[in-house]
Order: sequence, then structure tokens, then C-alpha cells
Amino acid sequence: MCGIVGFAMEENVTEHLIKGLEKLEYRGYDSAGIAVEKDGEISAVKTAGRISALKEKLKYENVSSHVGIAHTRWATHGEPNEKNAHPILSENKKIAVVHNGIIENADEIKKELISMGVEFETDTDTEVISQLLMINYDGSLLSAVIKTVKKLKGAFAFAAVCSDSPGEIAAARYLSPLTAVKFNSGAGIASDISALGEYSDEFIYLDDSEIAVINSDEVKIYSFSGEEKEKTPQRADADLNSDGRDGYEHFMLKEIYEQPEAVKKTIDAYYKNGEINFGFDEKFIEKLKNSDRVYFTACGSAYHAGAAAELFFEKILKIPCRAVIASEMRYSFTPLDKKTLVIAISQSGETADTLASLKNAKESGCATLSIVNVKDSYIAKTGESVIYTRAGREIAVATTKGYTTQLTALYMLGIYLAKIKNSAPDKELGEYENELFSLADMIKSTVSLSGYISRRAPFTAFEKDVFFIGRGVDFTCALEGSLKLKEITYIHSECLPAGELKHGTISLIERGTKVFAVAMNKRLADKTANGINEIKARGAYVICFTTEKLRDKFPLADEVVILEETNEFFAPAVTAPALQLWAYYSARTKGCDIDKPKNLAKSVTVE
Ligand code: AGP
Repeated sequence: MCGIVGFAMEENVTEHLIKGLEKLEYRGYDSAGIAVEKDGEISAVKTAGRISALKEKLKYENVSSHVGIAHTRWATHGEPNEKNAHPILSENKKIAVVHNGIIENADEIKKELISMGVEFETDTDTEVISQLLMINYDGSLLSAVIKTVKKLKGAFAFAAVCSDSPGEIAAARYLSPLTAVKFNSGAGIASDISALGEYSDEFIYLDDSEIAVINSDEVKIYSFSGEEKEKTPQRADADLNSDGRDGYEHFMLKEIYEQPEAVKKTIDAYYKNGEINFGFDEKFIEKLKNSDRVYFTACGSAYHAGAAAELFFEKILKIPCRAVIASEMRYSFTPLDKKTLVIAISQSGETADTLASLKNAKESGCATLSIVNVKDSYIAKTGESVIYTRAGREIAVATTKGYTTQLTALYMLGIYLAKIKNSAPDKELGEYENELFSLADMIKSTVSLSGYISRRAPFTAFEKDVFFIGRGVDFTCALEGSLKLKEITYIHSECLPAGELKHGTISLIERGTKVFAVAMNKRLADKTANGINEIKARGAYVICFTTEKLRDKFPLADEVVILEETNEFFAPAVTAPALQLWAYYSARTKGCDIDKPKNLAKSVTVE
């Protein structure tokens, strides 16, 4: 989503703001801008498009100062154009604001302010913040913020500068991340610590309903009611300065290759003395033992991870387990009670729909657990307990190691729950544990197919429409492969259970139609073969991902990619890297913007 960065420092702030924005670029955006305060004036420079366009524009504008704010915008209200780009100024041009999130009562506030004679310029919800600050400003930017946040509904993190409060930035956080940092020559504020990583390795993570007021000498934190609060700076979880590409052409390829290590780190983090130990407190363990149903709530690839875990959990826990898309679950009428375990899965830990669904579950008295990659993120802190995946920073918008480490954490959690519930034989669980320890090597073997796949993927790179099929857990992996391909190559890709083809979609299969078949499941191999035979009879071109032992089941497949054999439940972790590579090399063939696909953001902090 949007990126916020601000600095108050001894040096000229402009280049630091631009560098901060470039660190946030990976989140996806469609416009950018900066505003500085100097000698009683606010100067703002904004542009639609990339940060490179903003840098070009800045060559012709004399924007230098010691305090300023900057923003990359992913449009939610108002077109992605220069007018709606942040920073958004107040009517009197004395206040500039950058904002991440959605102000749900913006229309109501705008009507009220217009009736007071305030003139609006933009189509954004953010402008109500700038205008409210102007109305509420009485000589103190802090008190203007305190009065303003009382009026706002929805999720917001914003930062503001004011020409009458020289050298100062005030910022507020509610349901959208914000972090401050103090360093020798100044202080900073950002929506993502990667923009601050080169100034310090200790950060002040704002919590909800907190305000930061920074200048070049200090960072002060206040509650929304104005009490000053003591906050201890914390070390960042990942080495922020190591987010270089390390020689890979794209972050996505680097992160595909990092999967074996990330999976191993995730396992090692929770295996203590031969036992899985998540460090849950006794009260939570009791809740887990007594749970009689499980819901996984997540979006996108995280949902696909939950869907893959669904069958594994039902097999070994013998209770109903369902993966539900968070944007649906948050508005559903699903019965939730204290014997329901709701597991929120999220790489970023900031996805608004997943957070909302988790909060609903918490309010319904459920046992809630977060599986998250980003430390101290909102979803991490909202669940009663949290399991951190050890994927490390994931920069590419299309998740890869985020997904496979979510699967790994879910496999471990399933085994752990079966043990404390005594719901499956130790022998069976022991076999899964042994497979778990081979997972990283099996994924490494998949990733070693990169050369072969780089030669084959161009063959399908210019298709307009492709299909993915699979059965059982393979279907959930096919869903992930379909999403990976469409989100970075922009090819229309549709995924369905292989058994569903004959119920309608087969009408679209023509000679040469490309179909990717995920067929790792020994138990359902013959059924998958039926699906492949049906589409081959209509002239489809089938690329089948399967194992050496099963390949003879699919003699009609046009291409076969052989992967390591594992149990049906762990197959997505072994197969997905091959589908990720196929998507990557297809996008590379097409010259797509692989790490920052159009219209997409790394974390969707709005609904
Ligand atoms: C995956 O490649 C996508 N970028 C997207 O579907 C993502 O998985 C989804 O937005 C959920 O994000 P989260 O894991 O950070 O909650």
C-alpha cells in the first residue's frame, strides 16, 4: 500500500526523502511526492508515475530544507494523478499531509467542512486530514493532531508538517503501521522500517492511538489524549540493509532461491530437543486442546497456504477445518465460539481483511493464532499467540518464500495440535516429522530445475488464457501457481479442481489450449489422469508436474516436470517453487516489471 517517510535532520532532507521512497517502492504505487517546511513556507512537489519522474521534476525545483515528508501512493480514493498525489495541502497551504489507509467517514467530514466554507482541491479522503488540521491548529501541531484524530474513522497512519511549526513533524497511527527512529543528526518516521534501516537498527514501533512528534533533536510519543508515553526502541528482526538483490536479476528470483534456507530456519526456530515448541502459554494450550473446529482466514497466497493445510489438519485432527478468504469471512455468518480456533495467515501482517476477520474471531471468544512473517506487525500482535515464519524480508510483491514458510509453519502446527489432542497415532505423526526434515532438500531439488524451466517457460509466455488443474491438496497448489503466473505476466489464468472440468469449463478447451496439471497425489492420480485425458481429447497442450513414480499414469501429457515425491499434504511446498519459476521466466520473457507488477501492492492495508 502507500508508503510514508519523513525526516527532521541537520542535513538537507530532500535526498533522504527520495532514498526513503525508493526503499518503499517495492510495495507498489502509482504516484509520489514530497513536501518540505522552510522559513515559514511549505513547498510541495508531486507527480503521477514512478519516483524517477519525481526525481526528474525535483531537478527544476529548489526544494531544500531540514524537515519534510514524502509519500508513494496506491490509489484508493481519487485517480492516480498529480492532483491526488500526496502530500495533500490544506486550503491555506500551511499544512501538508501524507497518509496510508482509508478514512471511512471522509465524505461526512468533507460535507461539514465545506459547509464551514473550506475549499477542497482533490478527490482524496486524505484531504479531510489536512483541512481538519488547519481548522484545529492553534499554535501547536500536536494539539491539532489530537483534535483531528478524534474526528477520524477507519485505518490511518499520517504524518504532517506545518509552516507555523518549524522543524517539526507530527504523525499518528491507527490500524496502519508507523515507526519512528532517532539518530545522531536527526529523526525519522516511516510506514515501513526499510525506509529507516540505514539510520539505526533500533526503532520505536508506534502502537494504535499513538502520536509521534519529531524534530532533529528528539522523538516524543503521546497517546491520542495527549499524555506523553515512554517507548523503548527495539531492534529490527531482519537485517534491513541486506535487502539488496545479491546479484540476482530480480528480488523474486532471489527469494525463490532462498526458500530451502527459509524453510529450514522456520523449522529450526520451533524444534527444541526433538519436540515442536511454539512457546504458547498454558492457557492457550488448553484452548487449543479443547478446540473442535479450525478456520484459516487469509487472502491471496496466504489463503492458498491455509487451503493446503485444511486437508492435512482434518486428516490428523479429525475435526472440521476450513480455509476461508478473509474478505468473505469478515462479513459472513460463520458460527464462531470459544471452541473455535481461528488461524490468521499473513506474510506482511498488515492485510486489512485478514486483520478484520481475526478481530471478529477474537471478539467472538475464539482461540486466535497468527502465522506471520513480519515481526510486531498488526496481525502478529492481534492474535492471542503468534508463530513467526523465518522467511526474512520479502521484497517482491509476488510472494514465494512467504508462502512456502507459511506451509511449513502450518505442517508443524498440525503435528503439534495432533500431539496435544492425541488425535493421530505417534507412528503417523513421526512419519510426517521425518518428511518435514527433508522438506528443505526437496525444495532445493525443485529449485535446481530453474535452468530447465527457464528454457521451457517462454513457450507459454505469450498465451492469452491458460488453465491450472489439480485435485485435493494439488488443487490448492494449482491455485497458487495460477495466481503467481497471472500477477506477474498479466496472462489470464484460471484454476479449477480437475474433477470440475466436465461441469462447464471444458467448453473453453480448444486445440493448443495450455493447461498446467499438478498431479503429485498418488491417492488421486487416476482421477487426475481422467481430467487430463478429457482435455487431451479436445486438443489441449498439458504440462504436468508429477513424480517419477506417477509419470506413467499420465502418458498423454505433452510435457512432464518431475519433482521429488512426498506425502500428499506436503506436496505444495515441493511443487510451488517450480510454478513460481515458470511464472518468473514467463514474465522475464515478456519483459514485465516482475518485482513490482502493475496495480499490485506488497501489503493491502485497505479493504
Ligand atoms: C501473493 O503473491 C500476492 N502478492 C497476494 O495475494 C498476497 O498473498 C496477499 O495480498 C496476502 O498478503 P499477506 O500474506 O501479506 O497477508
